[in-house]
Amino acid sequence: MSKTADYAWLDGKLVPWANATMHISTECVLRGENVFEGIRAYWNEEQQELFTFRHADHIARLRQGARIMRMAIPYSDAEIEAASLELIRACNYRETIHYRPVVYFAEGELTHYLPSEIRTGFFILAFAMPSKTVQETGVKSAISTWRRNSDLASPSRIKSGANYHNSRLAYIEARMNGMGPPVMLNAAGKVAEGPGACVMILRHGKLITPPVTADILESITRETLMELARNELGLEVVERDVDRSELYVADEAFFCGSGAEVLPMVSIDHYEIGDGTPGEVTRKLQGLYNDAVRGRLEKYRHWLTPVWRGNAVKDAAA
Ligand SMILES: Cc1ncc(COP(=O)(O)O)c(C=O)c1O
Repeated sequence: MSKTADYAWLDGKLVPWANATMHISTECVLRGENVFEGIRAYWNEEQQELFTFRHADHIARLRQGARIMRMAIPYSDAEIEAASLELIRACNYRETIHYRPVVYFAEGELTHYLPSEIRTGFFILAFAMPSKTVQETGVKSAISTWRRNSDLASPSRIKSGANYHNSRLAYIEARMNGMGPPVMLNAAGKVAEGPGACVMILRHGKLITPPVTADILESITRETLMELARNELGLEVVERDVDRSELYVADEAFFCGSGAEVLPMVSIDHYEIGDGTPGEVTRKLQGLYNDAVRGRLEKYRHWLTPVWRGNAVKDAAA
């Protein structure tokens, strides 16, 4: 099923969905030359409010990726936030969504990067995306035969469209083998991440996750969960290399990401993890995360931006 919405935001303005098109000769279309973000906004039914989650942190990561790619983002942070809110409001979303700000190279050559030689454009997509029910049951994972993009070739810390060819290969292989999302190792043979999410395990009471130097995306959900685990569960959190065989003896394991949320692994390479059901700490972290992102934890409200109340305040001031 293809994703659709009433509007998209393209190069400075809202456009009806059908008009949100780009020429086939752009570098973005030809070679996947873009850097993007995947951000959720969560609907809180009691408060009748939609909250974007850690928008500013996502845009900081977008700028980091664009810097490495030498792409000049043609909008300020304030303009990107205003455009994101404008799009979400135009689509009248009062449900949980995923929105994607994307910076891209337009027509030019592979050697072009200066604003004087290639146009750098910007678009935003926003789709309804309810939390996945598989969060409850968990997924059966496997080690991919594909290695995660190396920092020596195509740094995984850049969330660029082109990096997702690597993810696609891994997803498809796992799917053909009847498995859920796989775990990818890096060139050194250590656990890197999933094709669209980071990996955490629980062993001997400690929450362990590969470091940002393990060829992973510097995940905002990973940061969020490390903070929640330390603050709310008093867990020791360790960022260190993780061996493949450690996954086989982990007490608990899960993927985490804006799209994936907290997704338990119940087996890996047919080894049951724990008792083969989502673990207790995983469940607790899921609960904390689900509360934090929906504005139910006052302490973490600074991560959220209200979409509709913000609008009401603006209207009142006008
Ligand atoms: C390859 C990859 N790793 C990790 C993540 C998790 O990152 P975040 O928590 O910032 O969404 C994602 C999801 O966006 C991803 O695509």
